[in-house]
Amino acid sequence: MKLILASSSPRRKDILNEFNYKFNIETANADETMDDSLSAIDNVKAVALRKAMAIGKKIDTIVLGCDTIVVIDGKRLGKPHSKDEAFTMLKSLSGREHEVVSGVAILFNDETYNFATTSKVYFKSISDDEIKEYIETGEPMDKAGAYAIQGLGGRFVDHFEGSEYNIIGLPIEDIKPILDKYYYMWKIRDVYIPNLVVLAPMAGICNEAFRRICKAHGAGLMVAEMVSDKALGFSNEKTIKMTKVSPDEHPISMQIFGADVESLVYAAKYLDNYSDCDIIDINMGCPVNKVAKKAGAGASLLKNPAHVYEIVKAVVDAVKKPVTVKIRIGWDSESINAVENAKLIEKAGASAIAVHGRTRAQMYSGEANYDIIKAVKEAVSIPVIANGDINSPQKAKYVLEYTGCDALMIARGAQGNPFIFEQINEYLMNNRLIEKPSNQEIYDTIMLQHSYLVDLKGNKLALLEMRTHISAYLKGLPGSATIKNQINTSNSFDEVTQILKGYLLA
Ligand SMILES: Cc1cc2nc3c(=O)[nH]c(=O)nc-3n(C[C@H](O)[C@H](O)[C@H](O)COP(=O)(O)O)c2cc1C
Repeated sequence: MKLILASSSPRRKDILNEFNYKFNIETANADETMDDSLSAIDNVKAVALRKAMAIGKKIDTIVLGCDTIVVIDGKRLGKPHSKDEAFTMLKSLSGREHEVVSGVAILFNDETYNFATTSKVYFKSISDDEIKEYIETGEPMDKAGAYAIQGLGGRFVDHFEGSEYNIIGLPIEDIKPILDKYYYMWKIRDVYIPNLVVLAPMAGICNEAFRRICKAHGAGLMVAEMVSDKALGFSNEKTIKMTKVSPDEHPISMQIFGADVESLVYAAKYLDNYSDCDIIDINMGCPVNKVAKKAGAGASLLKNPAHVYEIVKAVVDAVKKPVTVKIRIGWDSESINAVENAKLIEKAGASAIAVHGRTRAQMYSGEANYDIIKAVKEAVSIPVIANGDINSPQKAKYVLEYTGCDALMIARGAQGNPFIFEQINEYLMNNRLIEKPSNQEIYDTIMLQHSYLVDLKGNKLALLEMRTHISAYLKGLPGSATIKNQINTSNSFDEVTQILKGYLLA
C-alpha cells in the first residue's frame, strides 16, 4: 500500500505520524520553502483521513492533500496576486467565521472514493498593521496566497471547531457536485465552474477527444462544437452523436445554431432532455457564409436585436438548463451593437454571455476590441466571458483585468496547445509562468488524443482529423513544415507515429 502526500508542505507528514506504521509515504509536489503548516487545515485533513480509515476496506493508495479550500460568504478564497490583494483578503478574514473544506481521495481497487470534511474556523481580529507586517515579512508574492492560507491555520486562528458535517466514502461522481460548490471560482446560474478559463466552441475541433485533453490540462468549462438546430430536428445520426457527453467532461456547454425560434427551441429542448450537457449555448457569432448569410443564423442574428430577444426568451422559457449566448460585437464597423444585444439577452433570461471582440465583417482579421467587451461587462449583471486573441498567460491576465470580465474564452490559442489552460490558471492564481511542454509531452498528448479519437470515430477518420491537430501541435517548432507534409501524406497512424518519434523524440 502506498500513501502519496501531494501537499504543499513536507511538514504535513507530521500529521500522519499516527498512520506511519501502515504506509510507505511518498511526497509529491512538496514545496520545501514552506513551513509552519501544522494548522487547523491539517486537522481537517487528519479527520478526513481517520474517517477514511474507519471504513476498513482494503486500501491501495491514498492521496492526501487534495486542495484545502477556504470558503468566505459561500465563495472560495483564491490566492492573491499582489500585496494589496493579500491585504484585502486577510482583512476580510479578521474576526470572522469561515468554512474550511478538505478532502482525501482513496483508491479502493481502482475505484476512487472521496472523503471530505468541512469545519468552521474562527479568526482573531487582526489589525491593519498586523496584516501589513505579516505580508511584508512573508515570502515573495507568488507565495503570498499560500502564506495567507497558512495565516489562517496558524497565527490568526482563534479556534477551530470539529466537523460540522462529513461526507463519507462516496464514489467520486456522487461527491463531485458537493465538492464543486466549494471548489468553484464562478458560476453560470447553478453550474459551478472551477476556474476562469473556458474552451471556446470550435467546429471540427472541439469533439470529445479534444475536450478530454483540454479538461485534463485545466479547462474550467468547455463548449462543444456547434450543432445545427435543423439537423437535430431531422434526428441526424451524426449530429445526435455530437451531443453526447462523457461523465468526466462536466461542466460542459453544448452550442446550437439556427435562425428561427421554433427550430432553435426544438434543438434546445432536445439538449435539455437527452444530452448530459450542463449549459445550452446559442451561436450568434459564426461568420461563415453558409451559416451567417445563407441560413441567416450565427452572426447574422445580431443585425436584428428584437429577434435576438425573441430567440433567447423562447429558448430560456422552454428549457430547465441555463442558457448562454455567444456573440460578436456587431455585424460590421457601422453596426456595432454588442451592448444593446447583451442587455436584451440578459433581459430575455440568459445566464451568461460570451463576446468575441470582432465584427462579422472582420471574420478573424484585425484585433479583438476589448473596449466593447468591457462596455458589455459594465452594461449587464450576468457573467460576461471575454473572447478573442487570448493566446498567452500574460494576455489572459491583461484581458481579464482590462475588461473586468468574469472569465476568458480561448479558441485558436488552444488548438494544438491544450497546455495553455494550465499555463493561464497558474499565472492567474499564482503569478507563475509554467515552462513550455517538452517534446515528450507534446508527443504523449498527440498519442492520447489520437487514441480518444479512434474510440470516437474509428481509425480512418481519426487519421484524417489528427492531421489538422498535429499540424497545430507542431506549429512554430523548427523544421516542422517538412514533417507536416510527410504526415499529411501518410497512410496509417503507425507511419505518423514513426515520423513523430523521429522528429520529436530522437
Ligand atoms: C476552427 C474554428 C472553429 C470555430 N467554430 C466555432 C463554433 O462552432 N461556434 C462558435 O461560436 N465559434 C466558433 N469559432 C470561433 C471561436 O469560438 C472564437 O470566437 C474565435 O476563434 C476567437 O477566439 P480566439 O481568438 O481565441 O481564436 C471557431 C473558430 C475556429 C478557429
